[in-house]
Parts: sequence; structure tokens; C-alpha cells
Amino acid sequence: MINPAAHERLFLVGPMGAGKTTIGRTLAQRLSLAFVDSDAEIERRCGVKIPIIFELEGEPGFRMREAQMIDELSQRDRVLLATGGGAVLSAENRARLRERGFVIYLHAPPEILFERTRGDRNRPLLNTADPRARVEAMYTERDALYRDVAHLVVETDRAGPREIASRIVERIHESD
Ligand code: S3P
Repeated sequence: MINPAAHERLFLVGPMGAGKTTIGRTLAQRLSLAFVDSDAEIERRCGVKIPIIFELEGEPGFRMREAQMIDELSQRDRVLLATGGGAVLSAENRARLRERGFVIYLHAPPEILFERTRGDRNRPLLNTADPRARVEAMYTERDALYRDVAHLVVETDRAGPREIASRIVERIHESD
């Protein structure tokens, strides 16, 4: 059964480089929803960038802030929320997202994710000697979690955000 909140609250999940922010902005505009990005909101409130939070509080500190933020933002009305790539690691986050709105997994194969995130300095988990291997390992670990939480899985191939947003709008209406 489709969640009645489907058109009021959309939640985007997927790995770093899936396009959650860019596609999210376009899709929100198309559907007249307010766009909010969990990571950007954490940064705004902390007054520092994500890598600094990781440096000062470690990943556990960041995950705690992220869980609180998702809990808060996933209760807003008429919102499109772009979550951070690791939000699905927590069963509590997954349950909240799934129950409170319509969850869309933006899927892309690891090779494309690696290309899109290459050289990015704002993603501490990819700041390793072998980011390609890290992207692949994270994909292997998380793909099932994204699928588990999602009401809909959408392929984000090389099409632009507007094209993908259109596909999503069509698919949402199909699942009515
Ligand atoms: C993370 C993804 C990032 C950010 C943090 C951790 C992850 O979000 O939350 O760097 O664990 O995959 P994006 O997916 O928006 O880059």
C-alpha cells in the first residue's frame, strides 16, 4: 500500500554522488515542495563543514547529529528531504523515513559514483588512499539498505537532473 504522505513528503536516499541534492532541488521545484538537505542543515546549524565535524567528533558524533536532523526534518510538511549517503546505516533512521513519507533510492553503479565524487574535499569518508575501492565497498555494504528503505528505486544514468526529475514524477504517479 502506498503511504498517504507520498506527495507531501519525499525523501531521497542513495550514495554520495547519486545526485540527491541536484535532482532533489529540481524535483522539489517541480512538485512545489520545500527543498531541504540534511547535510547542509547540519553544517548551517553547527557553523562548520562536515569534514570539521568528523575531525572534532568522529563519525559517531556526526551520525548522532544526522539522526536528530532526520528525525526533525522528516516531520515537516510539504518537504523534499535529501539525506546524507550514510543515513540508511541506522535502522531507526530507515524506519522513520519509511513511515513518514515516500522514499526514493537514486541508484548509480559504483563506477559512475566514483567519477562524480572524484576530487571532492567535502566528503571525509572518501578522503583515503584508494577512494575507488572505498566507493565500491560502501556500495556493497549499503545497496541492500537503500533498497530496503525505498518505496521506489530510480536509475540515475547520465541523463541530467531535469530528465531524471521528470522520470520520477511519472513513476510517482504510476504508483498511485
Ligand atoms: C556520507 C555522505 C555525505 C555526508 C557524510 C557521510 C556517507 O552525504 O553525510 O560525508 O556516509 O555516505 P552525501 O551523500 O550528501 O555526500
